[in-house]
Amino acid sequence: MIFLTSILLLFIYIFLGTALALLLVLVIESLIKGHDISTGKEALSALAETIQKYNPDAKTFYDLGCGRGSLALRLKKKIPRLKIYAIDNSAIRIFFAKLKNVALRRKINFQKQDIFHTDLRNADLVYTYLWYDTMPILEEKLQQELKKGAVIITNTSHLQNWKLEEKIITYPKPSKTLDFETLFVYIKK
Ligand SMILES: C[S@@+](CC[C@H](N)C(=O)[O-])C[C@H]1O[C@@H](n2cnc3c(N)ncnc32)[C@H](O)[C@@H]1O
Repeated sequence: MIFLTSILLLFIYIFLGTALALLLVLVIESLIKGHDISTGKEALSALAETIQKYNPDAKTFYDLGCGRGSLALRLKKKIPRLKIYAIDNSAIRIFFAKLKNVALRRKINFQKQDIFHTDLRNADLVYTYLWYDTMPILEEKLQQELKKGAVIITNTSHLQNWKLEEKIITYPKPSKTLDFETLFVYIKK
């Protein structure tokens, strides 16, 4: 009996130790790389409506910088027909995203990759929620790679040189300086 209790305790210690280590890595990475903020509930609903409005027949959706996959997993539940590719350069965030993907059986393609190395030629929809300084470089990649008619939806940060189709404010307290949780819609011409 004492032997069995010791084995059980050992397993509990190993489990808690691993969970704590993973949590610590997540915290350290957030400090180094910046927070993995997830798209809010209102913005997610607006995103789903925007997809149906601008590209109801879209097949492929790319979440560029997917973090721990929360947006991709929730969107797949809302629009199951979409084939979702979710990319992030953080191995630990992709690890957690893949765990949730298996647990929830959502069949999303999570990939650990730099978004600037992602081939976007078959994308019907592209979504980003990235820092402002990433956008000017991304703008050029989108311009070069996306097919005509592809729809780009950005959250908070936006594209400077593209013609804006629509701006959707989803945060209850709009700010004059920061477009927090505001969606910007563009179409590749
Ligand atoms: C604010 S989170 C957005 C998460 C998710 N898209 C959402 O809306 O809920 C931004 C993510 O972009 C990732 N990221 C930033 N630059 C990247 C790059 N060059 N390649 C891949 N991922 C990147 C970060 O690691 C972070 O997890």
